[in-house]
Amino acid sequence: MKVVEKQESNTLLKSDAPFHSWYRFVLSYPPHLVRKYVEEFDLGSGDLLYDPFCGTGTTLVEGKKLGIRTVGSEAHPFTAMVSRVKSNWSLKTDQLEGIAREIGRKAEQACNKHGLPPLSFVTSLLREKPSGMLNGYSLDADEAGMIPTGFMSDRPLGRLLILRHWIEKLTEQEPPALREFFYVALAHVISNGAGNFSFGPEIYKTKAKNDYDVLGHFSQQVAIMISDLVVSKDWPGRKISTRVYEDDARELSKIPRGITSVITSPPYPNEKDYTRTTRVESVLLRFMTHRKQLREVKHSLLRSNTRNVFVADDDLNEVAGFESIRRVCEQIEARRVELNKTSGFERLYHKVVAHYFGGMKKHFRKLKSKLEPGAKLAYVVGDQYSFLMVPVRTATLLAEVAESEGYRVKGIELWRERVGTRVRNGLEAQKTVRVREEILILEMP
Ligand SMILES: C[S@@+](CC[C@H](N)C(=O)[O-])C[C@H]1O[C@@H](n2cnc3c(N)ncnc32)[C@H](O)[C@@H]1O
Repeated sequence: MKVVEKQESNTLLKSDAPFHSWYRFVLSYPPHLVRKYVEEFDLGSGDLLYDPFCGTGTTLVEGKKLGIRTVGSEAHPFTAMVSRVKSNWSLKTDQLEGIAREIGRKAEQACNKHGLPPLSFVTSLLREKPSGMLNGYSLDADEAGMIPTGFMSDRPLGRLLILRHWIEKLTEQEPPALREFFYVALAHVISNGAGNFSFGPEIYKTKAKNDYDVLGHFSQQVAIMISDLVVSKDWPGRKISTRVYEDDARELSKIPRGITSVITSPPYPNEKDYTRTTRVESVLLRFMTHRKQLREVKHSLLRSNTRNVFVADDDLNEVAGFESIRRVCEQIEARRVELNKTSGFERLYHKVVAHYFGGMKKHFRKLKSKLEPGAKLAYVVGDQYSFLMVPVRTATLLAEVAESEGYRVKGIELWRERVGTRVRNGLEAQKTVRVREEILILEMP
């Protein structure tokens, strides 16, 4: 196995904006990374490219742009919807324009009626809560409770809920793809301006906004999305249909056979709660209407943080015989004891790591039957120090797990290296670590 040292950046190039920029989350990798492996694997129109952790659809959109058939799956219903919308280029643009105009007209009337006039009219005199918010445009207690405190101010929230109402009303009689198109535009507005949060790379609360031009931003975003659809009319990928399944990558019950390549980025074992990154959009767009649903989504995700570990979990049994993984887990637990960390979450650290690799072992096993002989695979994963600074060499350990399921390990390439700083015990010395994000290259014999 060779280790290649290379550096790549993670920004969206301006020329990549069409479709990719419709909604992109902090966990996405850049389209040029997908392009690189499409070239390296020599993929063409006869191939079927699959992303089992497709998130917001970077692999699917990029494959389609390059004229390659793509299929994706994702366990989180909100991001699965985003992937579906970004890779569906067959909607009729004149129909979308007509509905968009009507949504804008109705929503503006409703905003005016409820004390939310266009922002150009808003003066410092209009700082109070919107009026009549209980009149069909409010969140119930469960929904409100799932939005992290302070992430949304009342006035932008009122405007968003009015817009949501009219999107739903005016697409009631239409195929779901139309409603989802406008949902994605609304999700973009929520996470790129209307909410009081940002990413760096963790999601964090920003200064509260008194108000936000939700309608203006929404109509601008819809116009961009429609113009991308217009431009794509002459692209080779236009006629290629992409399927997106809501499926757990440890099960893969819905995925077709005949896959010739995989380019993907699974979660990494760290303390990131993947449901928090998209929580506000998921709640406001009704993908999570009560806590039970949030729990179900967490259940369907790979165990990668202590917020989604459950009593009945047994993925860790899959890797019981792996000396290297056992050693890392033992080091984490020994470090916890040494530091006298006794919270329930800290006690789970070593188990999360074992569950993670166990879940990935299940994934590799289920994937085998879907792959063509000679299929080429690229897994983008990062090393981690989240568990009491014990290094978890994710790509190296995954290579061992994949090999045990019969894959050929072709190499591990460095994608990028980030510098992380950790403060230990409050004011004590800081420790700087270089965190590697790598690409594990596999082949199906
Ligand atoms: C690193 S992100 C992938 C980002 C993606 N490459 C993109 O461009 O948007 C990992 C994704 O895996 C999803 N995921 C986690 N566990 C999963 C599972 N068991 N099955 C399918 N998807 C899962 C998460 O919801 C998340 O969207």
